[in-house]
Amino acid sequence: MITTSASGNIFLFGEHAVVYGKNAITAAIGLKTYCEIRKREDSLVNISSEGYGNFKLRIAELKNIWEYKERMDLIKDLVSTYYQKFKIEEGIDIKITSDIPKDSGGMSSSTAVLCSVLEALNKVFPKIDKKDYYNFLIPFQRKIHGGTASGVELFSSTFGGYNLVKTAPISYKNLGNLELPILIINTGIEAKTSETVPYVRRGWEQDKESYKEIFEQIELLVEEGEKAIKNKDLVKLGNLMTENHNLLAKELGVSHPKLNKIVKIALENRAYGAKLSGGGKGGVAIVLYPEEKENQITKKLEKLNCKVYKTEIGVRSCQDL
Ligand code: MEV
Repeated sequence: MITTSASGNIFLFGEHAVVYGKNAITAAIGLKTYCEIRKREDSLVNISSEGYGNFKLRIAELKNIWEYKERMDLIKDLVSTYYQKFKIEEGIDIKITSDIPKDSGGMSSSTAVLCSVLEALNKVFPKIDKKDYYNFLIPFQRKIHGGTASGVELFSSTFGGYNLVKTAPISYKNLGNLELPILIINTGIEAKTSETVPYVRRGWEQDKESYKEIFEQIELLVEEGEKAIKNKDLVKLGNLMTENHNLLAKELGVSHPKLNKIVKIALENRAYGAKLSGGGKGGVAIVLYPEEKENQITKKLEKLNCKVYKTEIGVRSCQDL
């Protein structure tokens, strides 16, 4: 039996602007999805997952799924595509478990599932170079998010650490593994990327010039952020995160009063910086902080009725256990 793992991740900088071809930085987090895999003697594909459900099918019964109606459809579609593309003839057992809350909206739980299952299949039936995981996985990511996803989170779940990513054309640069403690605060407010991306697009269509300026300002923060990671300058990194939050909130309108409250409280309690992460309008916020402030900040944030996760960013991903 082999066990693989893949990290969830967060946007440190550049969500939304990345959809318009600008740079962003994503980071792998310490919360992971784990996949145990073993070959079977027969031709059954038997998958079980605490969060996604179970299925057992003969290889000949595996089919692609065009529209996901149940959570398990994502995994079924991925496994079927792999089996069909590479003409695999041996059965498998896969068991999936995860530290990442299923509906966290902003920790990329489904991205981690996709990467961990692909990594597990690829360990047992080696067919794809890791550099090509993005191309293989992006169709599934798009089906989950209603066709609008950039899918750039796939790079941090695949390669770990921090990744400077860009679309049109897609590219990535791994910025290494500076492990830093981070708080991820789940507002509990559901917000779908398939709604926030079209929301920004409607604004952009009405005034492309103004939006272009904002995206360019965000891209400057990304460039500064890359330097701050390289220099391990956490004060600078935090300030840039907060600036990015302010642009997302005040200019693009994708924040939420609760996300703004989290950022305010984090800063009042001496965090280095804080921002929403992902599509916004709910989902999660992230807080970068000096370790000695951890308890103080956590206690204050928990009073907001939010679930606070203490984890790290910049960790390794797609590793065997
Ligand atoms: C959502 O997690 C991130 C966005 O930039 C959308 C995307 O990149 O597809 C808002």
